[in-house]
Amino acid sequence: MCGIFGVITTKSDAPSQVFSGLSDIEYRGYDSWGIASFIGNSFQVVKNIGFLPKKLTLPKANLSIGHTRWATHGGVTVANAHPHLDCTKKLTIVHNGIVENYQDLQKKLKGHTFVSETDTEVIIHLIEERMKTEKSLLRAVAVTFRSLKGLNAIVVSDGKSIVVAKKGSPLVVGKSKDGFLVASDPNALLPYTKELLFLEDETILEMNEGLSTYGVLDLKPFKPSFQTVDWDYSASTLKNYPHFMLKEMYEQPQVLRNVLQNLDGIKDLAKVVKKAYGTYLIGCGTASYACLLGVYLFSAIAKKHVNYSIGSEFDYIEDYLTDKSLLIAVSQSGETIDVIEPVTHAKVKKTTIVALTNTLGSTLYRMADIKLLLQAGPEKAVASTKAYIAMQANILLLSFAVAGRLEEGARIVEKSAKEVESVLKKIPQIKKLANRISAADHMYILGRGLSFPIALESALKIKETSYIHAEGFAGGELKHGALALITTGTPVIVYVPNDETKEAVLANATEVKARGAFVIGVSFQNNSAFDYFFEVKDTGASSVIPHVVFAQLLGYQLSLKRKINPDKPRNLAKSVVVK
Ligand code: F6R
Repeated sequence: MCGIFGVITTKSDAPSQVFSGLSDIEYRGYDSWGIASFIGNSFQVVKNIGFLPKKLTLPKANLSIGHTRWATHGGVTVANAHPHLDCTKKLTIVHNGIVENYQDLQKKLKGHTFVSETDTEVIIHLIEERMKTEKSLLRAVAVTFRSLKGLNAIVVSDGKSIVVAKKGSPLVVGKSKDGFLVASDPNALLPYTKELLFLEDETILEMNEGLSTYGVLDLKPFKPSFQTVDWDYSASTLKNYPHFMLKEMYEQPQVLRNVLQNLDGIKDLAKVVKKAYGTYLIGCGTASYACLLGVYLFSAIAKKHVNYSIGSEFDYIEDYLTDKSLLIAVSQSGETIDVIEPVTHAKVKKTTIVALTNTLGSTLYRMADIKLLLQAGPEKAVASTKAYIAMQANILLLSFAVAGRLEEGARIVEKSAKEVESVLKKIPQIKKLANRISAADHMYILGRGLSFPIALESALKIKETSYIHAEGFAGGELKHGALALITTGTPVIVYVPNDETKEAVLANATEVKARGAFVIGVSFQNNSAFDYFFEVKDTGASSVIPHVVFAQLLGYQLSLKRKINPDKPRNLAKSVVVK
């Protein structure tokens, strides 16, 4: 989704820092970009639609702000790309979020020329208007920001300072030896500084030769608390891999071992789960399938009922939450609005919030009473792989910890890490399979029990990377409708683990084979129902981990075969911060 990067420095390389900062956050998804630099007495702007060029010659300047835009208000045009200017070209703005009342606000502005269809441009003209009566840029931005409805983060400059205000949308400030930076993603700041300030909502700050922070509502100053992070920037670079998705899939065995280093956090959380009157797991997309897997794991391992909902639906069914409930919010980014909103509402009810997130300092992380980091390291491919594996492992270990069998859980996660290594070695085999099925328009994935959420996640991974319509079903649902979709040659992946679902799901494999399907069996042993067999050794309940890695690799190979960039699926963004 939209990305922000801004710099004020004593050096003259602010525009090139902004350019490389934007390149670092382009993985979040965007359809146009722009950079404004203060030169002489006004702002010069370069912007375009599409992706950033590999190289860009930029002027020298001490102050520059840039943006990658994911269109919401107004189409993908150069005029709609940020940064936007006021009428005098002495003020500029970049913005993430949606100003819900921008049409009402625009009506109040008389005598201003608008060149775009965006809500953002309304903000900068409002600030221009306020500058006539307020004493400073800071005050003009604060007053304007208070009038905006919705969740917004803005970065505004008059060429002397950068003023930042936020509510809802993530922003991080960095302090370097030459000045200050602001970005919507902390990883983008790491080449310049490891001293980071994660901004709270309703704050406003001004960066020039120093930094001052205030509450946006009352302009009361407060002392910023910078944290020094020990993150490694190179962890978020491609290294020698052609795509982030491939690199991140290869990192999965290590991610599983990282999770195993954090058993104390899991043990502590298990105690809280045991005491709670109702535990709810919420997440979106891939994370929601990790939550659904939690329902099965808690039942099978801990003999405990936990509830699950996709984040965007939770608000409609959360009336039963109380101050004794426990809400475990699962999110790689920790910024997904469809998770943050229900968490905000649950907090009003004093429900205990657990953040299971990959992102230290994220909005979810800061909101939570209990924080458990996924330990996956930065994930840049839009399609989540290693973060999902870390979610699975953490939730699996939590169910074992609640059952008082954490060591057993740890043993099978270690076994699954080894099995993921074997699956990764079989990429040539998966490539052949991808070549065989890449022309399919539809594909189905069947699983029962623990493998049902895996079927859903596999379908999502294949959809978003290859654009093939893939759907996951519970095997038992076949005869209730889905069987009508099977015709000669339809690829059907069937997960057959060595558990109680084996016989029934093999019967499903036979049913689809009888209707002409091309049956791809993912199992610990071959079966006559399979047209194609992919072996994954049995590691008990953790077999779900290598199983899903098979689907990730298949999605990746399908994307290559279909000439799609697996790191940047069309229309999708890495971090979904607007509704
Ligand atoms: C799919 C994918 C998305 C995310 C979803 C939630 O591969 O990555 O479905 O899982 O947008 O994102 P987070 O986990 O950041 O809340």
